[in-house]
Amino acid sequence: MQILSQSPTDPGFVQNPYPFYAAARAQGQLHRWQDYGMVAAFGHAAVHMLLRDRRFGRELPKEMQQDGPAHLAPFLATEAHSMLDAEPPRHTRLRKLVMRAFTSRGIAALQPGLETLCHQLIDAFPDHPFDLLEAYCTQVPVITICRLLGVPTDMAPQLLDWSHRMVAMYQAARTEATEHAAAAAAQAFTDFLRGYIDARRDDPRDDLITRLIAAEEEGETLSTDELIGTCILLLNAGHEATVHSLGNGVKTMLQQGWQAEWLAPEGIERLVEEILRYDPPLHMFTRYAYEEAEVFGHIFQRGEQVALLLAAANRDPAMLEDPERFDPTRPAKVNKSFGGGLHFCVGAPLARLEMQIALPILFERCPELKLAAAPQYANTYHFHGLTRLMVTV
Ligand code: HEM
Repeated sequence: MQILSQSPTDPGFVQNPYPFYAAARAQGQLHRWQDYGMVAAFGHAAVHMLLRDRRFGRELPKEMQQDGPAHLAPFLATEAHSMLDAEPPRHTRLRKLVMRAFTSRGIAALQPGLETLCHQLIDAFPDHPFDLLEAYCTQVPVITICRLLGVPTDMAPQLLDWSHRMVAMYQAARTEATEHAAAAAAQAFTDFLRGYIDARRDDPRDDLITRLIAAEEEGETLSTDELIGTCILLLNAGHEATVHSLGNGVKTMLQQGWQAEWLAPEGIERLVEEILRYDPPLHMFTRYAYEEAEVFGHIFQRGEQVALLLAAANRDPAMLEDPERFDPTRPAKVNKSFGGGLHFCVGAPLARLEMQIALPILFERCPELKLAAAPQYANTYHFHGLTRLMVTV
């Protein structure tokens, strides 16, 4: 194991973290990443194993749980009721309720509405350079998740604002101002949902909020705080990563050149998987060890945190020939961009469907799509997404 030093806010790293990953991976599966003060897994084998190893999990071990600082209370309350930060049996109970809405039939039913939405957004594109990230890549997932949950779509701009302030908490460039903004956003988001859910109690419809309210009213399965925490998690996770998967994918295609076959019905699944593998929007997640555990020669102690570099695992030459090359003709092979094991992304089928619909419609309607300015990645590690994507059609 080597000791690696690499600031996650260094501009060169933010724009292109892959050479750092490749150098680390070439020296072994696990290294101590000094800037994070923890061991990090760079190889596919270690990331894959740690995602599934039940001696590790996302929930903080009991003896490490504390009341956080008072100014963060509203934010910490939403996290405390989120399945993402829970382990069984609480995780199993919360996830089961949500999974009912994410069946392949339920997701496929969204397809016609998604197609219409993509066309409407493209109809509104201006004839001067504009930001595709804002005009398209953001709108498709945020409106879709509003529809799935049953939140009015005119709330989308407000939801985006709350979400951006909250997810900034997971970024390396976090400051005290970030914390205050996240807490205020979490409070406002919670207040809105409490009111909206109450208003919807006597107004059942065919949406996820109706089903979750029913579970809450039955008692046992879901508390009101968990209902709110679940809605916030889904509304935030439901667009943040998909926006940047679309943005990163379009950027790569415009910079490296694209072929119509990639977007044809026989090619689209491979294109989407290759976009997700090659330049995923979320690069790192962490786990806590729950007991002393030896992994690839390192003995983790209970409470020790380990970072899983999903984006580094995706480019492991042990798994894939020529992994640094973007090649949408390679067989769609499962990558690590949606995680794995118990916390495997609930929204993966939805995100894939959105991308499989939004990309062909975009390139078919805008065959002359071109970059109007060099895209830059935002200084938001472990998130990896563009600040904007200026294009002309
Ligand atoms: C391309 C887009 C997406 C990517 C790359 C992505 C990635 C991920 C990853 C890596 C995790 C696991 C984190 C970990 O193991 O620590 C995760 C979990 C999760 N994702 Fe996604 N996600 C995407 C889209 C979505 C969408 C559209 C939704 C909701 C509709 C969603 C909802 C969730 C939820 C609820 C979890 C927590 C699951 C659990 O803890 O059991 N995601 N996602």
